[in-house]
Amino acid sequence: MKKFYLTILVVLGVVLGLSWRESAQVNAATTIKKGSNSDTLIVYFSKSGINYEGYRKTGNTAKLANDIQKATGADMYEIVPAKPYSRTSYKAVEKRATAEQKQNARPAIKGSMPDVSKYKTVFIGSPIWYNEYPMPVRTFMDKVDLNGKTLMPFATDSGSGMGEQPQQLKKQYPKAKIKKGFSVEGADVSKANTQTNVNKWVKNLGLSK
Ligand SMILES: Cc1cc2nc3c(=O)[nH]c(=O)nc-3n(C[C@H](O)[C@H](O)[C@H](O)COP(=O)(O)O)c2cc1C
Repeated sequence: MKKFYLTILVVLGVVLGLSWRESAQVNAATTIKKGSNSDTLIVYFSKSGINYEGYRKTGNTAKLANDIQKATGADMYEIVPAKPYSRTSYKAVEKRATAEQKQNARPAIKGSMPDVSKYKTVFIGSPIWYNEYPMPVRTFMDKVDLNGKTLMPFATDSGSGMGEQPQQLKKQYPKAKIKKGFSVEGADVSKANTQTNVNKWVKNLGLSK
């Protein structure tokens, strides 16, 4: 009888162990959305909800990242702050973003960092906040070394173009090859010609799928 209970316990342990391992793998995999081009990764941050242009169910930069994904077939990783920015009060977003920039803060990011070792090329995109990268992007940059990669910066803005982001990128990754970036105003990101312009940009880079 003792032997019987022991066997049940061992079987249960193995089943539980296997299902835990499977769920850990699923969680790890959810940080990167797989595309058809495994050489290239798109990393982006974007804030949905109320923003400068009004309400956005999908943030402007997320929309641009999706257009780039359609053109390249690249894998995608979204930088998600552990503590979300307000979706309902633009004032609250400004207050927090101003304080974080002033303190040179590194707000925590949700989940594990992506393993970038297999990617040669990384598109890195973000809204322009006070002419620079929002601080959660700086957290990502401090954690993930993109030196040695070819980097394609992209941004959405409300008039500043790429702002200081290319210079910030260069300072962070002195050994990366940084290509000319692509930016579009948040108000224009949903216009039909954005996908056309993205396709042209990607084609000129030789990265069309
Ligand atoms: C805190 C904050 C600061 C901003 N600063 C700038 C800026 O300096 N220059 C600019 O052109 N747009 C600025 N914007 C506007 C955003 O760059 C623009 O709305 C962008 O498309 C938002 O992208 P998202 O929807 O992906 O977050 C700022 C927006 C926020 C919320």
